[in-house]
Amino acid sequence: MAEDLLVARGIEVTYGGRRGPFGGPGHKVLHGVDFSIRRGETVGIVGESGSGKTTFGRALLKLVDVSAGEIRFDGADITHLPDSRMRPLRRRMQMIFQDPMASLNPRHSIRRILIEPILFHGLARDAREAEARVWKILDRFTLPAAVLDRNPHELSGGQRQRIGIARAALLEPDFVLADEIVSGLDVSTQALVLNLLKDLSRDLGLALAFISHDLSVIRAVCDRVYVMRFGKVIEEGPCEQVFAAPKSNYTRALLDAIPLPEIDPEWLMRESLVDETQ
Ligand SMILES: Nc1ncnc2c1ncn2[C@@H]1O[C@H](COP(=O)(O)OP(=O)(O)O)[C@@H](O)[C@H]1O
Ligand SMILES: [Mg+2]
Repeated sequence: MAEDLLVARGIEVTYGGRRGPFGGPGHKVLHGVDFSIRRGETVGIVGESGSGKTTFGRALLKLVDVSAGEIRFDGADITHLPDSRMRPLRRRMQMIFQDPMASLNPRHSIRRILIEPILFHGLARDAREAEARVWKILDRFTLPAAVLDRNPHELSGGQRQRIGIARAALLEPDFVLADEIVSGLDVSTQALVLNLLKDLSRDLGLALAFISHDLSVIRAVCDRVYVMRFGKVIEEGPCEQVFAAPKSNYTRALLDAIPLPEIDPEWLMRESLVDETQ
């Protein structure tokens, strides 16, 4: 069995707590979360809004401080690594956000948005070599080369989301965290984006963590799922098992509340072929 790439144990996060003699207790939102993911595995994190999914994702990537627990990446304890020592790991751990507009600089062209990180991380010798890589991925993502000269706001939502994924993929990460990335897209664009991610994770051997409040999305792409509630994991297991025979009443209620259309993989494939206009 492949080794775990990223492991979190007993993660606690408190917002707004201040240290020192006048410190307040703050608002504890994660109460000891355990999580692990292997290379090549796609893991879902599902739960209602406010259950702590985004906070946990940010803790995994060390974008928020953890007040207790341990995070190990590729065998090394990174829980308290200072920023300077995290920097080399940042390329290997990428996050794709729900709202790509918030993470893509609105004043920069898509060309610049895609090429700069490649050069920054030394993955190409010069801008020409970087642009060659960008062309390849645009082709794969069925994006016209003309998008390179546009700014983010000139693209459709589906195109922007693909640019966000392309930017992460170009850095050849080991781990990608996708937070609600298909919320707000229409169903066929959702299928296209999910399909791209699935292909990528297979080709790159990525560990992909997929946060969504939508169980049908999780079911379509994930091998294993964590169910979160009130800052805790209340159930974990292979998707088939959790969906077929949930152990907790909460998971059962989530399943009952949400219609779960079976997503036909053939349909996913067709969508990715016909999309030229998004
Ligand atoms: N930056 C923040 N400061 C204070 N509280 C926050 C912050 N971000 C999230 N919270 C709170 O933490 C809890 C979990 O939020 P979040 O992680 O965003 O959940 P989810 O992604 O599952 O919707 C919520 O009660 C939310 O109000
Ligand atoms: Mg969230």
